[in-house]
This record gives sequence, structure tokens and C-alpha cells, in this order.
Amino acid sequence: MSSNAGMDSVQFKVNGSEYSIGGNVSSTTTLLEFLRRYLELRGTKYMCLEGGCGACIISVIKSPGSPPEAVNSCMVSVPSCHGWEVTTIEKVGNRLDGYHPLQRTLAETNGTQCGYCSPGFVMSMYNLLKNKRKTMIEIEQQLSSNICRCTGYRTILEAFKKFASDAPEPNKIMDIEDITLCNKTSEIFLKNNIKGNAWCFVSEDSLGEINIQIDLKDNRKWFRVNSVEDIFNILRKEGSDSYMLVAGNTGKGVRPIVEYPRILIDVTAICDLKGFYFDQNMVVGAGTTLTELIDIFADASDIEYFGYLKVINEHIQLVANVAIRNQGTIAGNLMIKHMYRDFSSDIFLLLQAVGAQLTIRSADGVTKTVTMEKFLNENMRGKIILNVLMPPLNTAYKLVTYKVSAKSRNAHAIVNAAFLYKLNVDDNKVLKSRIVFGGLSSNFSRATKTEKFIIGKMLFNNNTLQQTINILSDELVVTDLPPEPSVQYRKQLAIGLFYKGLLYLSPQNILHSRYKSGKIKLHQTRPVSTASQSFPTDPNIWPLNEPIPKVEALHQCAGEAKYVDDHPSLPREVFATFVLTTIARGNIDIIDATEALNFPGVIAFYTAKDIPGVNSFTPPEDQDSITNEEILCDGEVFYYNQPLGIIVAESYDIANRARLLVKVKYSNVRQPKIDIRNVKNDPSQVSLFSCINATHKGNDVVKVIKDDQTIFGQYHFCLENLSCVSWPTEEGIKVIPTSHYLAAAQRMSARCLNIDQSRVDMEVHRVGGSFGLKLSRQNLITTACSIATYKLNRPCRFLMPLRIQTRAIGKRMPSSTNYEIGVNSEGVIQYLNYDIYDDNGYIVNELLIRITEGNYYNCYDKARWNFRCFNAISDTPSNTWFRSPGTLEAISAAETIMERIAYELDLDPLTVRLNNLDKEFGDLIEMTNTLINDSNYIERKKAKDKFNSENRWNKRGLRFALMRWNSTFPYILNITLSVYSGDGSVAITHGGVELGQGINTKAIQVCAYFLKIPVSKIKVKASNTMANPNNSCTVASLASQNVALGVTRCCKELLERLEPLRTDMGNPTWEQLIARAYELGINLQANGLATFDDVYKNNNVFGAILAEVEIDVLTGESEILRVDLLEDVGRSINPLIDIGQIEGAFVQGLGYMTSEELVYNYSTGELLTDRSWNYYVPQATDIPQDFRIYFREKSYSYDAILGTKSTSEPPLCLSVVVPFAMREAIASARLESGIPSNKWFNIDRPYTVEKICLSCETKIEDFKFY
Ligand SMILES: Cc1cc2nc3c(=O)[nH]c(=O)nc-3n(C[C@H](O)[C@H](O)[C@H](O)COP(=O)(O)OP(=O)(O)OC[C@H]3O[C@@H](n4cnc5c(N)ncnc54)[C@H](O)[C@@H]3O)c2cc1C
Ligand code: FES
Ligand code: FES
Repeated sequence: MSSNAGMDSVQFKVNGSEYSIGGNVSSTTTLLEFLRRYLELRGTKYMCLEGGCGACIISVIKSPGSPPEAVNSCMVSVPSCHGWEVTTIEKVGNRLDGYHPLQRTLAETNGTQCGYCSPGFVMSMYNLLKNKRKTMIEIEQQLSSNICRCTGYRTILEAFKKFASDAPEPNKIMDIEDITLCNKTSEIFLKNNIKGNAWCFVSEDSLGEINIQIDLKDNRKWFRVNSVEDIFNILRKEGSDSYMLVAGNTGKGVRPIVEYPRILIDVTAICDLKGFYFDQNMVVGAGTTLTELIDIFADASDIEYFGYLKVINEHIQLVANVAIRNQGTIAGNLMIKHMYRDFSSDIFLLLQAVGAQLTIRSADGVTKTVTMEKFLNENMRGKIILNVLMPPLNTAYKLVTYKVSAKSRNAHAIVNAAFLYKLNVDDNKVLKSRIVFGGLSSNFSRATKTEKFIIGKMLFNNNTLQQTINILSDELVVTDLPPEPSVQYRKQLAIGLFYKGLLYLSPQNILHSRYKSGKIKLHQTRPVSTASQSFPTDPNIWPLNEPIPKVEALHQCAGEAKYVDDHPSLPREVFATFVLTTIARGNIDIIDATEALNFPGVIAFYTAKDIPGVNSFTPPEDQDSITNEEILCDGEVFYYNQPLGIIVAESYDIANRARLLVKVKYSNVRQPKIDIRNVKNDPSQVSLFSCINATHKGNDVVKVIKDDQTIFGQYHFCLENLSCVSWPTEEGIKVIPTSHYLAAAQRMSARCLNIDQSRVDMEVHRVGGSFGLKLSRQNLITTACSIATYKLNRPCRFLMPLRIQTRAIGKRMPSSTNYEIGVNSEGVIQYLNYDIYDDNGYIVNELLIRITEGNYYNCYDKARWNFRCFNAISDTPSNTWFRSPGTLEAISAAETIMERIAYELDLDPLTVRLNNLDKEFGDLIEMTNTLINDSNYIERKKAKDKFNSENRWNKRGLRFALMRWNSTFPYILNITLSVYSGDGSVAITHGGVELGQGINTKAIQVCAYFLKIPVSKIKVKASNTMANPNNSCTVASLASQNVALGVTRCCKELLERLEPLRTDMGNPTWEQLIARAYELGINLQANGLATFDDVYKNNNVFGAILAEVEIDVLTGESEILRVDLLEDVGRSINPLIDIGQIEGAFVQGLGYMTSEELVYNYSTGELLTDRSWNYYVPQATDIPQDFRIYFREKSYSYDAILGTKSTSEPPLCLSVVVPFAMREAIASARLESGIPSNKWFNIDRPYTVEKICLSCETKIEDFKFY
């Protein structure tokens, strides 16, 4: 990559240095790859590679003078970067030049846990600051480009809102150089500029007009052109059989591109495709990015006849996210719609609604103007969209648009709708209309019959409305579009939106006040979020119990913290990936890898036969697994997309391309069983694990309730995917896995290679989030990577692509409960028969059911409970650990039973809970009372009831949940603590792994407390199998407490050894003491072991929570208005970290309870929700609007573990409260439909927009104005 400027290369700058690239890159080489693998700038992270997670965001100035923009580097083909100035996290701030205020503030506010998302967040915010100062609400909304799976966002928002223009205490940091407005931007958007000429973002002088042609490494041709004519010249010469115009290149985030076409033409430098001018229409260049479009429309909307652009702009702000809008163009968006009719394009929708037209040019120079409808039927081969004609619309036109997605931002529309009415000013009679929908089916978007019907009618009339809705309902064509929600929901939603639109436009004096809430867009009512945290801390024992930020936080925020794939490229390294089965059940007859092996760059292919040792990645003798689990399928297939082979190639892309070329013949193919609700009724699929009989039975039965309840799987969605790097060593192999169970990883690598364990060295510094995924499932990748290294004697990198990870790897166990309850009139259980079925996936291996068994009654009196738990197997990947496994299922089931009783008997659910509480857990009575006071429950309950009585279309719910959480495992963990004689500084290595939970910081605090030295003098090193062999996994919130125990033991032992000397020396400083101890030969290294005997029984973690939600009855959308969460954390070693754990766990649970839905093809067993595009984890604007955390006062556990309790898992269980609150809101809506509020309705979680909306059972007859 050197200076080879000219016609066959592109030039750009990264962090001030110039680079030139040409034929040495492939069509698939992204800017991300270039930064990380060629420049070794590994501060920029990645996860989804499809524009959905934001981990890869960098800052780009696309041409001199243009504003810096956030760009997803994973979306950019590196030849697109011509003329760009790229800034990465390394340049923003670093340990040499000093850190940026954003990095410091994020670290100090504890806005980073695993830290893997942090550089991306910093870069997003960095770009936001570089333009114009944003308000707090803008910051919250515009951070939707980024996902954090650990923190729950509150701390990130708090950090960045300090930089807002309306921050309560404006940050002095605002004086920094960054905040100056870009001259070019401010100049461009001067109003008078708009009136006349077109403008172009691409300044001609800066880029030059030379066309570029590069023959790429993978036999593709890359062209960069400056005029539309150039495009046609190329197509004429090269043919139009296989080409793509590269604009923002973000289309691949919508529909992945497996292989680029032969000809790639970068059109971003073409001025004619940019900017705008007015003739009778407003003509906007089709190559305009969506961000530019927003700016153009913002200004143009002040112009007469174009006021409607304000409405359009509001909608475009909901398209994708900031970084994608910075790259993605109008034409690109429309062409995706052209290629994939079922794509619910917002841009197409908006343009169709206002009657915009497109100018299309073909090779013969002919241009034509087409309507949006005609465009879809136009053969676009060899043609270009030149521009969009936005029509002038006078004020008689009213436009209203909607977008309903699975979450509030950064998600495509499930259904979107736009309605344009031209109304007679005097009587509101309809003169013209356009009624447009997206997301319903591939071939329906405009309700023309309805449009015709309403001509001449007075719209805001109850009768007309009903008639119109009947016509509309008949006219809508809604088809199955898996994994999108059901036809029933999308149809109801479409009608609901139509009604909503009319409510919005209706004159206010007509509307009955109860219907007014229907016109609201719920997410737009969301204010700037607020939060509070209340915890005790005792300065007398600091640094123990001191709220200090994580010790690694700043390095994480600067991209300096190293994760597995940040390990620099190694000479001769190869890349490995899995080949997957394409059936769920059956047998493999023949595997033919010939084509794959012939693919240029492919090095090897391995199947089960090639494994030198045992084909298993789980040790059957282990405490956490009970059987062998295949690395590679050895004949019998157990689930769809089971790994059957390993492809090894020169690059990540080649490996992942070639894996699809392996041909497999199957026999005995059968339909899989994948739904726990059916599986549990099939005796061949279930086995009884244990049975706990009631000891008592009551006779006062006034009601018997019998039902079932199911919760489904959850994908971990950690930001760092499963990865492994390994290389040969003199005596064996060195492996760096994303593992928090090194002992098992080491054991199984050795076993599959058939070598001694001592020949395998494992090391891990930190892991970018796991939540259980990387405990045992990591070993699958670790063993596969080890096999490739061992067999090829070359370094190997195994990086799981998101879509393989979601499909091939197990998740949280689905769990289904059958129950029969007999209760008295106070809701006290007289008897309960309660069966729970945990879905293990295809194999029972990890016995998470033991945890369910230990917690099935949560905090309630179990004397009258007959409990049985069953292991179920389904034809899905082996399910695995996921934050609070087993406990969550149990607590969810027990709490649902309490809610159920309350509903059926019309009792207060909190009273029912307290009536059934186990007296042993009286702590919860005190905590509940505290929460009732602190949350102002009584007043808020009244306010909620008033709100519900006054509003028909928005409803609120306010509910409690209680928790007793317990985790007692035999655990072994060792710690080595070394003191260095030169300066008394200390290094610790421990057998736990830093996953973001702050284990290292807590270890340091404990050490500093006992040794009475500053925290800054102590460092924690990577865990490795040499210093920390045979350790338990980092799991169940137990590692932190065991590290505290082990460090305490190390310190005590060391202090004991030093004590005589200290007495002799009088009152030496620590440094003097250590120096002298060294001279005397005193051992300055200590080992501490937390052993299997260190089990702290009955170390119950209690929690109480109150959540208030609001739902939109017409759409199913929801907002979490407020959450008050009180947890008993004992005496926290670090309250700041523990608050972060609690918030993060709760928000992860919130996602599980509301939006994270796994959708399968039930006939094939294929997982359809396998990407960030269709699996929806919460984002910054999905968290509670008001989030209050309280630690229980005066709580303490055991001295040995310094009074601490677990924090990282329990709060996830408290998220069960959210569906309860939603259920109350839904019940209130159902009451309006005449369904009594004590009539139970079953909703298996998650409570998605679909389930909320449909469960409201809204009657169309109720759609009224007055
Ligand atoms: C994470 C994510 C979220 C998204 N969310 C939404 C959403 O909520 N709503 C929504 O509507 N969209 C959404 N999108 C889609 C996004 O708007 C499009 O990806 C983007 O607009 C495409 O523009 P592009 O310039 O990147 O197209 P490219 O990827 O560069 O090109 C796409 C196609 O358009 C063709 N093309 C480009 N320019 C022209 C031209 N002038 N004439 C003819 N053909 C041309 C190319 O040949 C190519 O086939 C999302 C995308 C991502 C990645
Ligand atoms: S890796 Fe680029 S957005 Fe996820
Ligand atoms: S800290 Fe954000 S993903 Fe881990």
C-alpha cells in the first residue's frame, strides 16, 4: 500500500498519513479491513458488518471543507475512499498525545463495561460534536447508530449529554477545538444559496476530474467516474450483464451481497447526481445522501409549496441511523426497493405519497420521467436514476406519515404509511388523496380504491370513517413475509395507522378528548431520559466500597484495550470458518469440497475424520457439562446449520465465500421439532430431571386455574463475536480465545489434537461481552482454530461471522411451564402443580435445569407446591448459559403465577405476592415498603388509573415484581499476586476473566485495601493457563466474589510474611518494606485459592421493582416511563460498577421481554432472525425514560467475601416486571372492548409490538372521532 498514485489507484488519508491503493485489494476489502489488517489500527471494532451495530464507526471528511461525518467503516469498499480524510479512534486521543475529553468523560462516567462498543460510541459522538452543538434530546436520538449490550446506555448518555448545548452544567470541554462549525457546511446551508443554483458537495477542485480504473485482485474492475456519461461509456464497453453502481454501498446492510458483480462503478463524485434546483418541481440529485437530503429539505421547507418537506424530514430522521444516512443515497434506497419489492423502504413510501417522480436515463441518452409506481416496473438494467422531482403542494394538502418498527430507532419499518389529503378548506371534503403503505406485501403499496371512495366525502365523520375502513380493509393485500410479524398484525396496524392519521388531521373541536391520544406518535413523546442512583458508601474503608471507574475504562474508550482479533496479523496466518449443514435432521452421505478447494485462496478443508483426537469441545467429566458435544457433525445431523466442516483460506472473505461452495448430499431428511410448546408434549423428547413434592395442602380452594406459559430463546448479541487466534509454538500451540473458561478450552483443545494439555497455552486478556455465550460455546471455535493451526502448522484466526454465530450456536433456553393452582379468596395458594420444561436444544449437556430446580419458587412459600422439572430436547443448537440461566425461567414462571392469581381474583398483585411470601424471606417486606415510599407508588397508581380512564388509545400499566436470587456453585479459582522489589508495584493474575463486569477493578480495590497502597500501584494481567490452571469458569456472578476472596488470602499471606520485618523496621513505607524484604529473600509472590469449599449458602440477593409503561393501543408500540429498582447488593466493593451491572442486566432483560424474538422456519428448522437487521436488542432510546436504582441500606453478607453479593445476573430477572405492566395496560384496553379485566389472556414473551397490539383486541367499530 504505498505511493502509487495515478489512474489505477485511489488516494486517501488516514489520521493524517496518505495512502494509495489499487489492484492489491479485492471488491470485498472494506475500509474496516484496511484499517485493522493493513494499517494495524485495531482500535476500530466490528461485529455485524452490516451497518447495524456502530462498533466500526470512524470519522470521515469526504472532500476538503466538507463536514466530518460518522461512517460505518464496514460498509465502505476501500476504493470508495478516494479523497477522503479518515480519522480513527487512535487519532482522537491516545496515551501518547493525551486523551480526548469524550474518552475521558465516558470512562469517568462508567460508560464502558466490556468496552468493545466504546470506541464506536466515542466516534459517533465525536462526529456529532464536529458539526453543530446538539441538544440533549438530539444526542440521545442520534446515538442510535450504536449498540451497547452491557451498560444499559444510561451511563453513556449521561457522559455525552454533558456536551449538549442545553446541558444543565455546560461542560467546559466545549471550548475544545472540535466544536467549531465547519465553514463549508454553514456556507452551503445559507438560505439564499437555496433559491438559485444547484450545489454539489463534491468540490471539483478537491477531487480532480480524472476517472480512475482499478483492476481489483479478485478479477473485478473498479471505476470512479465524474459524470453520468462516464457510467454509460463504461457499461457500453464492459457490458451491463454484471455491474453495480457504488453510491453509499450500504445496500448490503439491507440484503447481504455474497459476491460483488464484475463491474463496480463509484458514482459518488458525480456532481450531476447531487444537489438540487427548482423548476416547477424541486429537483434533487438521486445521489444525494439521506443526511444531505435532510439538510436540503430543512431549508426548502420554508419555501412556499414545500412546507410538507418538514413532515418528510421528520420521517427520514427515522430511516436507519446517522452513520448509514451519511452514506446511503436516495437512488441506492430506491434501487433496493426495485430489486426487493418487500423491502419497506421509507424513501419510496414518502416519495410515492407526495406524488414525486424520478428521472431515469438510459444508455442511449434518453431520459424519461416516471411515477414511483412505474419505476418499480421499469427494467433498470443499464439505466440510472438521475434525480427526484418533488412536486409543489399548496397548503390544502395535508401530509401525515408513520413508521412502526420493532424498536424505537435504527430498525426498518414493520409497516410504514403515508397519507396525503387535499381537503376543501370550507368543509374538509376530500378533493384528492394518496394512501400509501409499506411492509404489507411485495405488490401492494397504494390503496387506490380507498382513495377513490373518499373523494368528495367529509373525512372527519364517524360514518364515513367506518365505510372507508371497510373499503380499505378489503383492499389491503398483506402477505406472509417471514420473519416479519403476522399478516393479521400488519393488516390491523395498517388500518390503525390510517385511523391515526385522520385523528391527527382532524379539527380539534371535533375530537372527543378520549380519542386524542390516538394521534400521538408514542416514541416522539419521549423526553430526555433521566436517572438516579442511590447507594451507601463508607469512606472509612475506601478503596473498598468506593465508587471508582473501571481501571481499564480509559484504554477501552481510546481503542487501546486489546481483544482477541486485535492481536496483530501473524506471518503466514490463515483464516478459518465453518461449513454448515442445510438440513436440521437427517444424515450426511457425501461431502464434496472440490469446488471450494479450487477457489483461489482456499488452503484446506477439514471434516470430523480429520480431527486427530476426540471430536468434542465439551469435557464430559466437567462440572459444567456432562457429555461430549461434537465439534463437527460426524454423520447424523441434529439441527439446521450444524457445523460439518472447517474451511481454511488466505482471508476471512475467501473462507466465508468458499464455505458456500461445499456440496453435501443428505439422506433420511426429516422435519425438525423446534417449538418447546409442542416438544414438551412428546414423551420421546422429554425426561424428568427432578420432582419436589409439596409438604402441605390447603383446603380453602375458591378457584382453580390451569394454564401454561412459555418464554423463548434469547441470542446473546455480545459485541465481540466468538473469535480465536492460535499459532504453533515450540512445544505445541498457543491459543488466544474469547473464552471465560480457559481450563475447559485448554483441555478440549489438547484432547481434540490428541496432545498433552501442557502443550497447549491459553491466554485471554478480556472478552468483549459474553453473558454466557463464551463459556462453553467458545470451545467450539477454540478447538476448530486449534485443529487448523495444528494441521497446517500455521497461525490461524477463526472469526465467527454474526450470521453463523446466531444460527449455529445455542442460546438462552426456551422454557415452558404447565401449572394448576388452587387458591383461596386472598390469593393464597392452597395447592400448586407446577411443571417446567427447559429446552436444551439437541442435547442435554449443561444441566442448567439444576439452577431452575434450586429457584423454582422464587421467594414464595413452597410448602404447597408440587414441582417437577423436565429436560426437553429439540432439533436446535445446544442451548447454553445466558445471564441468570435457569433462575430467570424459574422467577419468571413463579411471578407469572402470582400475576395470574391477582387477575383471576381481581386482587392487588402486590398483596397476592406478599400473601404467598415465604416468611423466611421477610427482607422483601421491608424492601417492598421502602420501594412503595421511594417510588411514590400510591399517588402514581391513582394517576395511572386516571390516565387510563381519560384515554382510549394510549394505556398505562404500573406493576411490581419481587425476586430472591441465589447462586451457589462449588467454585475454584486461583490468584497469583506478585510484588516487584524495585518500586513495590503489584501485579495480579487471576483465573477469572474480565468480561466487563469489573472483576479486575474489584480485585485491585481489595488488594489496595489490604496492602494499604494506592490503586494505581496495582495492575491485573491477562489470565493464562500457566499461572492460573484448572480454574472454574467465570460464571453466575461468582467470579468477582471469589477473586475478592482469593486476593484477600494472597494479601493476608503476604502481610503475614512481612509483618516481622515491618515491626523491625518501625514504620517503613511500603516501598522501603518491599525493598528490604527482597534483600532478605522474603517471597514476594503469594497464591490465593478460592476452593470448592468456599460456598456461601443462603447468600440471597433480594430485589423489588416497580415499572410503569405506556402502550399505543393502535400500533403496539410502548415506552417504559419509569423504573424503580431496589436491590440488595450486600456491601458493594464498587457501587459504581455494580450500578452499571444492574442497569445493564435490566436493559438486557428488557430486550428479552419486549423485542428480542427468534423466528424460525418451522418446517426446515432454519433461524430467520439471524442479523442485526431483524434481531432487535434495545438501543439508547428504548431504556426507561426515568431509571432509578436504589441499593438496599445496611446489607452485608459474609466477611470472607467482604460483605458483597452478586450483582450482574439477578437484576435481569427483575425485568419480568415489564410484561406485567404492559399486560395491565393491555387489560385496560381490552376492557374498552368489553373484555373483563379479570379475564386472563396469554402472551408468551416477548411482548413485541405485534403481541401488544393484537392482545388489545381492538374493535374497528371503536375507531371514531367523537
Ligand atoms: C442498518 C441499516 C438500516 C436501514 N434502515 C432503513 C430504514 O429504516 N428505512 C429505509 O428506507 N431504508 C433503510 N436502510 C436502507 C438505506 O437507506 C439504504 O441502504 C441506502 O439508502 C442505500 O443507498 P446507497 O447509496 O448506500 O446504495 P448502494 O448500496 O450504493 O447501492 C444500492 C443499489 O442501488 C444502485 N444504484 C445506486 N445509485 C444508483 C443510481 N443513481 N441509479 C441507479 N441505480 C443506482 C446500485 O447499483 C445498487 O444496486 C437501512 C440500511 C441499513 C444498512
Ligand atoms: S460492524 Fe459496522 S456497523 Fe456493525
Ligand atoms: S460496554 Fe458496550 S458492548 Fe460492552
